[in-house]
Amino acid sequence: MRNNALKPYLTTAWAGQCFLYEEETDSTNFMAKRLAKEGAAHGTLVCAARQSAGRGRRGRTWISEENGNIYMSLLLRPDMEPSHAPMMTLIMAYSVAKAVEQVCKVKTSIKWPNDILNGTKKICGILTEMGMDKGMISYVVIGVGINTGQMEIPEELKDKAFSLDIGKEQKEELMAVCMNLFEENYETFAGCGSLKFLKEEYETRLVNRGKTVCVLEPGNEYRGRALGITEKGELLVEKETGEIVEVYSGEVSVRGVYGYV
Ligand code: BTN
Repeated sequence: MRNNALKPYLTTAWAGQCFLYEEETDSTNFMAKRLAKEGAAHGTLVCAARQSAGRGRRGRTWISEENGNIYMSLLLRPDMEPSHAPMMTLIMAYSVAKAVEQVCKVKTSIKWPNDILNGTKKICGILTEMGMDKGMISYVVIGVGINTGQMEIPEELKDKAFSLDIGKEQKEELMAVCMNLFEENYETFAGCGSLKFLKEEYETRLVNRGKTVCVLEPGNEYRGRALGITEKGELLVEKETGEIVEVYSGEVSVRGVYGYV
C-alpha cells in the first residue's frame, strides 16, 4: 500500500490525511502511540500488512498475519475529559459498521461496545487506548482490525468469525470511508459531548438488544436483559431483580448466555 493510497476516496479535513503504511510493525496501536509521543497530528492514521504483537481487548492476542486483513490505528488529540474516551470507541464501531455496508454491501450489526458482526460472526474488533497528561487526555489511539482477506477462517473460529471478500482497491476505499464517516460523527460528538445523535441507529444494529446477557465485571458477574445504550455509550441492562443498571465499557465483557452473542 502506498502512503497516498487512501487519497482518491478521502473527503476528510483531518482523519487519515496523514497516512503511514508499514509492511510490518509490532502493533499499529504501539506505532501510533510512539508517533503521538513524537508530536504527530490529530487524525494521523497508521496501517501495517502484518503485526508481530497484535493485541485485542482484555489483554488478548490479535492474530495478525499478512493475509489481506486490515490492521490500522487512528491517533486523536481530543480536548476532552478522559471519561469521554470510551464514547470514541462506539463512534468508531458505528462508523466502521456503516462503511462496511456502504462499500462491501454486507449487512452489519454491533455487539456492544465495539465488535462489528455479520449475523452473529465477528468481522471487526476495536481496541482504544489513551495517554494522559495532568489529568487530561494527551492522545487517544483507536485500533481497528477488520477481516478482509482471511478467506480460510481457521476451523476453531468458523462459528465466530467472518471475513469480507474484497480486493486491494476496495480495501483502500473501505479504510477511507471509515475515516470519512468517523470524522463526520466525531465532529458532531465534539460539538454536543454526547452520543445522542447516533443512539437510535446504533441501537437498531445492537445484536444483544432485548437478549439476556451475562455481564462479566471483575469480581462481579450477573445476568440481565440488554435494553439499549445511554447517551454516554453505557449499556443499559435490566437485572433479574428488575433493577436497571448502566454498564460502563472499561473492563467489562458482555456475553450471550449460550455463547459469544
Ligand atoms: C478486540 O476485538 O479484542 C480488539 C481487536 C483490535 C485489533 C486491532 S488490529 C489494529 C490494532 N493494533 C492492535 O494491536 N490491535 C488493534
